[in-house]
Amino acid sequence: MPALVLLGAQWGDEGKGKATDLLGGSVDYVVRYQGGNNAGHTVVVGDQKYALHLLPSGILSPGCTPVIGNGVVVDPSVLLSELSGLNERGVDTSKLLLSGNAHIITPYNVTVDKVTERFLGKRKIGTTGRGIGPTYADKINRVGIRVQDLYDESILTQKVEAALDIKNQVLTKLYNRRAIAVDQVVEELLAYAEKLRPYVADTVLVLNQALEEDKVVLFEGGQGTLLDIDHGTYPFVTSSNPTAGGACTGAGVGPTKISRVIGILKAYTTRVGAGPFPTELFDEDGEALRRIGGERGVTTGRDRRCGWFDAVIARYATRVNGLTDFFLTKLDVLTGWEQIPVCVAYEIDGKRVEELPYSQTDFHHAKPVYEMLPGWTEDISKAKSFSDLPKNAQAYVKALEEMSGAPISAIGVGPGRDETIEINSFL
Ligand code: GDP
Ligand code: IMO
Ligand code: MG
Repeated sequence: MPALVLLGAQWGDEGKGKATDLLGGSVDYVVRYQGGNNAGHTVVVGDQKYALHLLPSGILSPGCTPVIGNGVVVDPSVLLSELSGLNERGVDTSKLLLSGNAHIITPYNVTVDKVTERFLGKRKIGTTGRGIGPTYADKINRVGIRVQDLYDESILTQKVEAALDIKNQVLTKLYNRRAIAVDQVVEELLAYAEKLRPYVADTVLVLNQALEEDKVVLFEGGQGTLLDIDHGTYPFVTSSNPTAGGACTGAGVGPTKISRVIGILKAYTTRVGAGPFPTELFDEDGEALRRIGGERGVTTGRDRRCGWFDAVIARYATRVNGLTDFFLTKLDVLTGWEQIPVCVAYEIDGKRVEELPYSQTDFHHAKPVYEMLPGWTEDISKAKSFSDLPKNAQAYVKALEEMSGAPISAIGVGPGRDETIEINSFL
C-alpha cells in the first residue's frame, strides 16, 4: 500500500500539519500537490512549534524526502525564507525536491490578488492575498511562469512580457495603478534561479520510481474539500483541487497507486474568509471554541469563524474524496460542554435535506438541524487509547463516525505529536 493521501475534509485548518508530521516518521516521501503559501500548517514537536506554509510537513522528519509537486504554486521568496528559517532552527532541508513544472507566484500575481479583492469590496472572497488565484489563472490561461523558466532568460523574458501585456492594461486603465516593468520582474526572478537550483528535479519520475520500489509516499493536501475549486462552495473557494483527485494531477501519479485517502476532520467546524457556513455560531459558544481551540489563522492572523460539527459536510467529503479513514482532531477542545449540538441534516425552504445541495442558492439557505449529544468534563488530553476516553466522548466519536461514512482511525487530543489516540494503523 504505497501511496496515501491526507487532506482536509472541511474548510481547511483541520490539523493536516500535525497529522502529516505524525506519519512523517514512517513514510519515505511527503508531497504537497496543490495550493501554495496560502496554507498554514502548524506542527508541534516537543516544545518547538513550526508554522509551515509551502514546505510539506514531512520536512521535520529526518528520514523523509519532502517534495513540492507540479500542482503547487511557488513564491520563491517565501520558499527561500521558509528554508532559511528552518535551517536557523537546525532543521536539515537539503533533501527537498521542487518540481520544475510548478508555477511561480510572481510579484504581479500578488499585486493582482490584492487589487482584485479591494475592487470587489463587499463581494470579496477574503483571500489570503498571496497571489494564489491569479497564478492559477495564468496557468490555465497559458501565460504562467514555471520554475524551469528561471533557467532560460530569453524564454523567461518572453513569458513575462506575454503575462504583463494584458495585465498592465488592466492595472493602469481599470485599477489606476502603475504599470509593472518586465525587466524588473525578470531581474527579480533570475535572482532566485541559482538559489533554487539544488532542489529542482523531475519529481514525477522520482515519485513513480519510488512507488515502483514500494516506497511509501504521502500526499499532503493544503486547504480542504469545501475550498476545492470544483467541489467546494464556489466562488468562495481557493483556486486549486485539494480533493483526492488533485493528488494525481498535482504530482503526476496515477489513481491506481493510491490505496488510502485520509480525511482530516475537526471535531467542530471552522472557516476563514467569506462564504456560506451553516453551523456558524455568533454567540459565546463560538467565542469559546475560538478561544479554547486557538482558532486564529496561521497565515493571515485572522480570527477563524467557528461553529458546531456538520455531518452533512463530512459525508460529502467522504463521497467526493473516496475517503477510507478519518483522523478526528481537536476533540479535547470540546471538553466542558454539557451538551454538544451536531448538525445531522439541513432544513432548506422548509424541507429536510440529508445531503449537501449542489445549488449555491440552496446552500445559502441551509439551516442546520441539530441533534444534541451529551458532553463530558474530564480532561482527555492524556488519553492514549479509545477506552481512556470518558463514555460520552467515546459516544460522540462513534456518532460522528456513523454519520460521516468512514471509520475514525485516529483522534487528536492535543497539538503535540504524541497527543493522539491511534485506533487503526494508517500504514
Ligand atoms: P492545518 O492547516 O490543517 O495544518 O491546521 P492549522 O495548523 O492551521 O490549525 C490547526 C491547529 O490545531 C494548530 O494550531 C495545531 O497545532 C492544532 N491542533 C492540531 N490537532 C490538535 C488536537 O487534536 N488538539 C488541539 N487542541 N490542537 C490541535
Ligand atoms: P490550510 O492548508 C483555511 C481560504 C481563504 C479564502 C479562500 C481563497 O492551512 O488549511 P486563496 O488565498 O487561497 O485564494 O483564498 O480560501 N484559504 C484557507 N482557509 N485554511 C487554508 O489553508 C486556506 N487557504 C486558503 O481564507 O477564504
Ligand atoms: Mg492552516
